[in-house]
This record gives sequence, C-alpha cells and structure tokens, in this order.
Amino acid sequence: MSERIEDIAQAMVQEGQGILAADESTGTIKKRFDSIGTENTEANRQAYREMLFRSQEAMNDCISGVIMFEETLYQKAVDGTPFVDLIKAAGAVPGIKVDLGAHPLPSAPGETVTEGLDGLRGRLSNYYEAGARFAKWRAVIAIDDVLPTYGGIKANAHALARYAALCQEAGIVPIVEPEVQMDADPADHTIERCHEVTAAVLKTVFAELSDQNVKLEGMILKPNMVVPGSKCAAQCSPEEVAHHTVSVLKRAVPSAVPGIAFLSGGQSVIEATANLNAMNAAFDTPWALTYSYGRALQASALSAWGGNADNVAAGSDAFTQRAKMNSLAAKGEWKEDMEAA
Ligand code: 13P
Repeated sequence: MSERIEDIAQAMVQEGQGILAADESTGTIKKRFDSIGTENTEANRQAYREMLFRSQEAMNDCISGVIMFEETLYQKAVDGTPFVDLIKAAGAVPGIKVDLGAHPLPSAPGETVTEGLDGLRGRLSNYYEAGARFAKWRAVIAIDDVLPTYGGIKANAHALARYAALCQEAGIVPIVEPEVQMDADPADHTIERCHEVTAAVLKTVFAELSDQNVKLEGMILKPNMVVPGSKCAAQCSPEEVAHHTVSVLKRAVPSAVPGIAFLSGGQSVIEATANLNAMNAAFDTPWALTYSYGRALQASALSAWGGNADNVAAGSDAFTQRAKMNSLAAKGEWKEDMEAA
C-alpha cells in the first residue's frame, strides 16, 4: 500500500466500496449489546468485531476501510492475528476514532463541541505505529428552529480543521465528520431546514479547513444526508433526499476532495441504501459518493448474531448482505427487489 495520504484517501473511496464504521465506544456498544441482551464484556466486543472483520466477501469486495475504537485497534482475533492485519489482508485500510466525544459548549444551551485536541499529536503517532492510516472526528450539530448558533458551528468547524491538520502531519487521512442530527429531540425539522443548516455548516467547515492549510486531496468528508428530522410529518422520497443532498454538496464541497462517505445517522438500513443509490443513479459528481455507515451496515448482523457463537455465520451473512447492497448503491445499481434475493 502506498503511503501518500492522497493515495490512501483515493483507496478509501474506490469504485463500489465504502467504510465500515465499527468505532462504537465502550459506552455506545453497550447500548447495541443491550438491544440483543448481550453482556458488554471485552470478550464479546472482540467476538462481535471478529465476526465482522472475518466476513471475507464483504471485506474483500465492499469495504475499503474500517473505523475502530482504540481498544479494537489493539485487539487480536482468537487465533492471535491482530485485527489490523486481518483488515489489511482484506485490502482495507485500518482507521481509528480519535475524538473524545461531544461535550456541552459553554454559554450555548443545547449545543456541544467535540473535545480531544490536547495531546492529539502524540496519540496520532501511536496510532500510526499501530497501523492506522486514517482517523475520524465527529462534530455534532444540534438542529431546531433556532439552533445551531454561528458560534456553535464555528467552534466545531475549527476543532475539525485543527484535527485534520494534525492527522495530515502524521501521515493519517482525516475523515471530517460534521453531523447535523436527524433524530435528536425535537427532530421535527423539515428537509428545507436541514438543507439550510447543512449548507451553513459545510461552508464554515471548508473555510476553517482552508485556514488550517488542510490538503483537500488527502481527506474524506463524512456528512449527514439532507433529510427531514425523524419526527417530521413530511418525510421524503430517496429522489428528494438525493436532490437536496447533492445540491448542498455541490455548492459547498470543493472538487479536490476525493470522496464523500455518508453517515447513516438513524436511517433504516433500507433508507440508507436507497438514498445513497438515488444520488449515484441520478447525478454526476466531482467526488465519489459512498457509505461510512455504522448502524446501517451492522443492525441486521447484530441481531442475527445475538451474542451467540452458534450464530456467527448468520451474523456474517447479514453483514455481507448489507455490504453488497450498499456497494451497489455506491454505483447507482441497486434496486429494491435485490433485497429479497
Ligand atoms: P451511523 O452510520 O450509525 O450514524 O454511524 C456512523 C458514524 O461513524 C457516526 O460517527
């Protein structure tokens, strides 16, 4: 594998491939395990991730990179193979979530800023040693009639840009993730409101990236799609989501960025596939449009596995199915009737 960040970024968004976000923190994976009645032990976390990373067809053909939590980056498969080596053997790039979570922004009720810049240079050099070649930092943007404030957007965009510059200095591709939330209360905003807020956020993020001299060719953008809030009465078709999302991106994202890999953000597994497909089927864009899904790649695998070693093959099959459907969507070749097959 080449070590130029531009080449790593290109490999991460290669045709028909996308990113598996398996970077749930120990607290977040507890919520996922609670939903299947599985205890949140290190052994169970290891077994679940090994099931995903050993899904050969999905990993070889549909997954270009895997985002891990720090514990997972240093974990090994049961036979002693480091997870990093399993992922590389499948032709995918190992990645690491480096932010330390969203915390309340002072004097800004309802808004957060993502922390983790202090000491990041040292941590990045350790993660590079461990084999990580890309990283992720998620900024969380609240949305309602009045939020976000410009100060809230600016604080998050500045942190994203500082993080991205530090990553590139370390030879690591930054995934820049500003997430306008779709399902945090009140979650009743319209698609037009999401359009307006996402446009303002991306404009500010790219201004800050420019101020921090981030090389656009060596980064990946991970945005939300432009969708109505999950509790908005007016839900939208994949074609409407595609139209709004691509219009916002075309106005805000320079064509030097090699790829845009969406988060799923609470969309159902089928919605996440259908919406991505609608964009790739109808639009020519200067950047690749693909997936960096957590829940939308894992939900069916998690329930098929159910924390039971006897169900590893079923869990792996369920993950492979979602990976293949999303790979088709990244090429605009998915059709709903393929889900049954
Ligand atoms: P979801 O696809 O479940 O939103 O997770 C993606 C992610 O990495 C969030 O930071």
